[in-house]
Amino acid sequence: MHHHQLTCIIIRRAGMMLLVATFLAASTIHASPPTPSPNSYTLALHKALMFFNAQRSGKLSDHNHVLWRGDSCLTDGKPSTAGSPTSDLVGGYYDAGNSIKFNFPASFAMTMLSWSVIEYNAKYEAAEELTHIKDVIKWGTDYFLKTFNNSADTIDRIVSQVGLGNTDGGKDTTPNDINCWMRPEDIDYTRPVTECHACSDLAAEMAASLAAASIVFKDNRTYSKKLVHGAKALFKFSRDSRGHYSSGSSDAALFYNSTSYWDEYVWASTWLYYATGNSSYLQLATTPALAKHATFSQAPNQYWPNHGVLSWDNKLVGAQVLLTRLRLFLNPGYPYETTLRRFHNETNTIMCSYLPAFTIFNRTRGGLIQLNRGHLRRPRPLEYVVNAAFLATVYSDYLEAADSTKPAGLHCGPNFFSVDVLRDFAKTQIDYILGRNPQKMSYVVGFGNHFPKQVHHRGASIPKKKIKYSCKGGWKWRGSLKPNPYTIVGAMVAGPDKHDGFHDVRANYNYTEPTLVGNAGLVAALVALSGDRTTDGIDKNTMFSAIPPMFPTPPPPPPSASKA
Ligand SMILES: *[C@@H]1O[C@H](CO)[C@@H](O)[C@H](O)[C@H]1NC(C)=O
Ligand SMILES: *[C@@H]1O[C@H](CO)[C@@H](O)[C@H](O)[C@H]1NC(C)=O
Ligand SMILES: *[C@@H]1O[C@H](CO)[C@@H](O)[C@H](O)[C@H]1NC(C)=O
Ligand SMILES: *[C@@H]1O[C@H](CO)[C@@H](O)[C@H](O)[C@H]1NC(C)=O
Ligand SMILES: *[C@@H]1O[C@H](CO)[C@@H](O)[C@H](O)[C@H]1NC(C)=O
Ligand SMILES: *[C@@H]1O[C@H](CO)[C@@H](O)[C@H](O)[C@H]1NC(C)=O
Ligand SMILES: *[C@@H]1O[C@H](CO)[C@@H](O)[C@H](O)[C@H]1NC(C)=O
Repeated sequence: MHHHQLTCIIIRRAGMMLLVATFLAASTIHASPPTPSPNSYTLALHKALMFFNAQRSGKLSDHNHVLWRGDSCLTDGKPSTAGSPTSDLVGGYYDAGNSIKFNFPASFAMTMLSWSVIEYNAKYEAAEELTHIKDVIKWGTDYFLKTFNNSADTIDRIVSQVGLGNTDGGKDTTPNDINCWMRPEDIDYTRPVTECHACSDLAAEMAASLAAASIVFKDNRTYSKKLVHGAKALFKFSRDSRGHYSSGSSDAALFYNSTSYWDEYVWASTWLYYATGNSSYLQLATTPALAKHATFSQAPNQYWPNHGVLSWDNKLVGAQVLLTRLRLFLNPGYPYETTLRRFHNETNTIMCSYLPAFTIFNRTRGGLIQLNRGHLRRPRPLEYVVNAAFLATVYSDYLEAADSTKPAGLHCGPNFFSVDVLRDFAKTQIDYILGRNPQKMSYVVGFGNHFPKQVHHRGASIPKKKIKYSCKGGWKWRGSLKPNPYTIVGAMVAGPDKHDGFHDVRANYNYTEPTLVGNAGLVAALVALSGDRTTDGIDKNTMFSAIPPMFPTPPPPPPSASKA
């Protein structure tokens, strides 16, 4: 029943796209001007990864390489609430310009980084960043393991957040991570711990994150097993205690309001399948009802406004690309084929929608695709763009690797587009971010010679001198019109407005604030585009290393038969 409905709707949508394809077919693709060399993507990658070092909370190693940062928030989780398994919450990452630790976006950021490592191990190695990125991921996963009872098979709570922002529109004067402007190293106010007891979206994203990381760390069996164990417990919790982690007027609802948990169900069960090889997770991921709920999260028959756009809120398209990977490379057939074929088709449709030949999404005059259709809390275009650039690139690589006998590409209605067109989409978007835009400005701090100087970031904007600025005393630095005293290398800011305009003003977070999720997508897109794909292409097999052979090979003939 559900199954049938989904088929109809997808076909109807595909029909709509076909129409669009027919009328708007590709005549507007300009001959692309020379693009930055793969080396500049590698250079940007080195920088983009450094942002994670700048966001670290807790006790830093001597090799953190961000000289203006030091140890901070060493008492997070203390004193612990009675009965809480989580009294040590030291570590993890600050979300953005503030110092809140939000598990929801942070775990999505780590999932994206792990995905990029599993595919592009060889490119990270060629860029001499493999150790670094694994270290970045482990800093995140080690912290997530502290936020629930990771020795239990069954859990009933997760710490969703440490630190607090304005839940009352700024009227609350209790010092916190938003109404104070302080270096994290100087924080002297209380950082409350938020726990959730029914948070399917958060628990599933954390499960995805630990499952993906277990593949990254598969060479360390102890750690990898611990991650898988945690992922299973989180996912079970996510399924058993249904609820939204961001309900009511919590900080979570204000900053990262999750629309639905159905997309996280598809995404997490896909990752759990890859991490464990247990086909019950694949069965769940390909259950038509899940994808249907994830597609039409609110009103029936109405597409979720950000359908086809991968973000901290919506992971369905990410799961569809991952499952299309399975169909292209392992082709498991019955009973998964019906849904996998549909996901493959839907993935193609979404990839087509990114191409400049179509007007599914608007673009700025300077060419930046507008994927955030105004439904989400803030403009911040770039964090959506980098994810689309990553998906387009990795999908191009899949198509090429799947069948080397044919020219690789996809059909959008009657038109065939080679994978180069899809890669060009990714390149033009990333090139825009790196400086090929009307402002001639790089939106990645420290890359190129013109980049934002007033990044909305507490640590980078307050001079680290002998003076310790108080909660309110630090606000003069927030409002200062001078450049930040420290260059927060690699931070990708929120980005320009829909007219390619940009105001390099610290107080305006809509332009100048970086985030973990933004940089995770950037890192993933950059590594995908970097280096040489003929020598260091995607790794087809590591993703599937836990999956038993699909079609068991027949046993060898008995010795007597071979003698005869
Ligand atoms: C964590 O789970 C283990 C195993 O179920 C249990 O023995 C332990 O008491 C739990 N810890 C806390 C603090 O609840
Ligand atoms: C495996 O990971 C654990 C947990 O981080 C670590 O303590 C251990 O040293 C690692 N083992 C190896 C062989 O790298
Ligand atoms: C968060 O999302 C829920 C449903 O998705 C909605 O009802 C609620 O109003 C949103 N909250 C905020 C603060 O935007
Ligand atoms: C696969 O996962 C399901 C659901 O978690 C579980 O019930 C089952 O025992 C697992 N099967 C194996 C072979 O581990
Ligand atoms: C998706 O499937 C529909 C129905 O079979 C087909 O008409 C359409 O061309 C397909 N779309 C893509 C992009 O493959
Ligand atoms: C494109 O821009 C127009 C005008 O601002 C707007 O009405 C429309 O909703 C946008 N379309 C999309 C898909 O974002
Ligand atoms: C940022 O954008 C939001 C949403 O458009 C808007 O409500 C808010 O006032 C803007 N903030 C600033 C500082 O401009």
